[in-house]
Amino acid sequence: MARLDDKVAVITGAASGIGRATAVRFASEGAAVVVADLNGQGGEETVAECKRAGGRAVFQKVDVLSEAEIKATVDRAVSDFGKLNVIFNNAGLAGAVGRIEETTAENWDRTLAILLRAVFLGMKYAVPAMRQAGGGSIISTASIAGLRGGAGPHAYSAAKAAVINLTRSVALEVGKDRIRVNCICPGGINTPLIYNNVPGGFEVADQFLKSIQAIPRAGAAADIAAMAAFLASDDAEWITGTAMVVDGGFTAGPVLFGDRNAIEPPAGGFMGPSFEQKK
Ligand SMILES: NC(=O)c1ccc[n+]([C@@H]2O[C@H](COP(=O)([O-])OP(=O)(O)OC[C@H]3O[C@@H](n4cnc5c(N)ncnc54)[C@H](O)[C@@H]3O)[C@@H](O)[C@H]2O)c1
Repeated sequence: MARLDDKVAVITGAASGIGRATAVRFASEGAAVVVADLNGQGGEETVAECKRAGGRAVFQKVDVLSEAEIKATVDRAVSDFGKLNVIFNNAGLAGAVGRIEETTAENWDRTLAILLRAVFLGMKYAVPAMRQAGGGSIISTASIAGLRGGAGPHAYSAAKAAVINLTRSVALEVGKDRIRVNCICPGGINTPLIYNNVPGGFEVADQFLKSIQAIPRAGAAADIAAMAAFLASDDAEWITGTAMVVDGGFTAGPVLFGDRNAIEPPAGGFMGPSFEQKK
């Protein structure tokens, strides 16, 4: 029996990047998937990939700015597949960028609506459906930018930090209903969100993302899909209210010393008093 057999999942932002990789992973592990996105063509491609992986999937067009469309997405899981066990609130973008004094309130509001309000609405409509199913797993995509300053633009960072604490807050309320609520904090993942916004595209983004954390490769959407599949599964039965960091070591700290940096520790393996060390 596959790990996600008999589970029904909604994934937003599933036309691309992390959402697509997760949809295909879920389908290959036995789940039926509602592939939800604003991008119809990309969404249909994901559905086709899910089917090639041997799974069941349907496309649902959703703009996560719309409460009615988020509700319709949850309803689609129930109408097509009979229930809802998992929702992955993952749709996103970089949103408002640039200096704080030049950020417009309109761009701020739009960013927060997509990255935070939509997560709230996904939770709001998933909870009753999951209670009906006897429990479930709510997963949302936060970010290392929600844990640290400087890893994303201002509005993005604020929204992702809020997703982390919303996750904890809701987890406390619905644990008694056997509903688990977790989020994932990806590090630098080389998806279109990154490489379509970087001059030079995929290769340049890849080189940059290789250099910023302990494990010297860019993150892949599959790295996050693996964590999402774990959180969706019964293997994670006792895990709730967490922010799972999947970042190749980014939040462990900056890579300052060693063979990837010009600052080498002295030979001999010991640094004496500073006055003796003077070069
Ligand atoms: N790529 C990274 O390095 C990284 C790091 C941390 C967190 N994240 C988060 O991961 C999530 C997925 O991003 P990704 O990297 O796969 O990017 P992506 O651009 O490849 O995928 C994002 C998807 O969200 C969809 N989307 C955007 N706005 C939407 C809306 N209003 N309604 C419905 N769908 C919408 C897009 O069409 C796209 O298919 C986002 O929440 C992002 O903030 C990404």
